Order: sequence, then structure tokens, then C-alpha cells
Amino acid sequence: MKLIVAVIKPFKLDDVREALSALGVSGITVTEVKGFGRQKGHTELYRGAEYVVDFLPKIKLEIAIEDERAEAVVETITKTAHTGKIGDGKIFIHALDQAIRIRTGQTGKEAL
Ligand SMILES: Nc1ncnc2c1ncn2[C@@H]1O[C@H](COP(=O)(O)OP(=O)(O)OP(=O)(O)O)[C@@H](O)[C@H]1O
Ligand SMILES: [Mg+2]
Repeated sequence: MKLIVAVIKPFKLDDVREALSALGVSGITVTEVKGFGRQKGHTELYRGAEYVVDFLPKIKLEIAIEDERAEAVVETITKTAHTGKIGDGKIFIHALDQAIRIRTGQTGKEAL
């Protein structure tokens, strides 16, 4: 299993959620975060307004997925969250050792 962590632009969340639902992803965790990339301290457009700040609002998605479907999830996020402008975000892929579905006690892929 993989844990896919994606940091995206907030206005892209609905599109990404819809695309991932269409893929049949069974769960997504979403967190409002702040971050910076390579342009730290430089101007980046956020909702049409110009900000010169260290941290910009981003959305972090976490998706636990079986190995065979990880690539499709990454491709879908990459395509859907892309604008071509700076600050589009990043995807980090972790090896995921175990998952447990608390209600049923299922583990591994069965728990996803
Ligand atoms: N190396 C990193 N480690 C952790 N988080 C990062 C890293 N790089 C980017 N992020 C997160 O992703 C968000 C978006 O990064 P961003 O897309 O601006 O990266 P970038 O390397 O500057 O690319 P670009 O030149 O396209 O803007 C950041 O605000 C931060 O939350
Ligand atoms: Mg950047």
C-alpha cells in the first residue's frame, strides 16, 4: 500500500475530489495547511490578489491506496490540480506498512 500526500491549490479541491471519486478512491483526508515552495518570500497569485508572504494557504490531501492503484491516483491529481502557474503543489508518495479499519478490525487492503 501507498500513502499519497498531495499539497494543492485550495480552489482545485472540488475538481480533485470529483476526479478521485470517479476513480473509486474509498477515502480521502483533507487538511487546510500553509506552506511555501521555491518562491518563498516572493509574490504568488492567490484568488486574484497578490500576496508577498512566507506562507500561503494550501490544501493537503492524504489517500491510502493499494499499490496497483497508486499510479492512477497520482496521475489524476497531477492532471486535475495543474494550472501551469507557480504554486501548483507537490505530491509525496510514502510506503504504507499497515492500515486498520477500526469498526471491523480488518487490516491491510481490506481496511481501505
Ligand atoms: N520540499 C517541500 N517539502 C514540503 N512541502 C513542500 C515542499 N515543496 C513544496 N511544498 C508544499 O507544497 C506547496 C506548493 O509548493 P509549490 O508548488 O510552490 O512548489 P515549488 O517547488 O515552488 O514549485 P513551483 O515553482 O511550481 O511553484 C508549498 O506551499 C508547500 O506547502
Ligand atoms: Mg512555488
